[in-house]
Amino acid sequence: MVADSLVVRFLVWGVTFFLVGTMQGVIQVMPDVRRWIMSTGGAGHMIDPLAHAHVNLVGGVVMIAIAVCYYILPRALGRPLYSMRLARLSLWGMAIGVSAWYLSMVTLGLIEGQMMLREGIGFFEAKEALQPWHALGFVIPATIMGIGHWIFIANVYLTVAKRPG
Ligand code: HEM
Ligand code: HEM
Repeated sequence: MVADSLVVRFLVWGVTFFLVGTMQGVIQVMPDVRRWIMSTGGAGHMIDPLAHAHVNLVGGVVMIAIAVCYYILPRALGRPLYSMRLARLSLWGMAIGVSAWYLSMVTLGLIEGQMMLREGIGFFEAKEALQPWHALGFVIPATIMGIGHWIFIANVYLTVAKRPG
């Protein structure tokens, strides 16, 4: 089935995001890393939980849940997905969105956290010093991730709603 190759791609992306998230998990339990994260407040918060939670939950759990839906739905309904094009778009929205969110949260967190410790400033000052990159680093990946989720949701509703013949 055409949809099955897409299912495999969702699974491979999901498992890869789990690999990244669990590797981060192991790194962030190390005492020095834990101390750095705790001492940088809002900046550390971007690395854990914002990067760690989303790469594991959105990149891992949600992408594997989408793979399960795309696998089961055509079989349960006895007809193909409403749109393979939308399904492919949802794959790239999720994969690019989660990757961009992760890289953005880790990069902003590291830069702003270092600024706070080096210059003795608070999170608010560090964040303001990095504008507009701080805001764009949230808005752009969040929008791409959101579009990835909603295209998938629309495709499921349209597949269920479309009556055969
Ligand atoms: C090797 C695997 C993992 C390790 C070592 C690990 C480690 C950690 C650590 C040290 C924290 C910070 C806890 C704190 O702030 O006190 C954390 C938070 C978190 N982890 Fe993991 N993690 C792992 C895998 C996962 C997976 C697979 C998921 C999800 C499917 C996950 C979801 C979360 C979430 C949602 C938080 C944030 C919790 C909160 O709101 O404070 N983690 N993890
Ligand atoms: C377009 C999709 C999403 C965007 C843009 C997004 C963004 C955010 C933002 C901005 C926060 C708040 C951070 C804060 O104020 O500390 C947050 C928290 C969180 N999100 Fe998401 N999120 C999305 C989807 C999801 C999904 C699908 C899940 C779970 C499957 C999830 C799990 C979480 C968790 C566990 C937290 C709490 C982390 C913590 O502070 O302990 N998110 N998310």
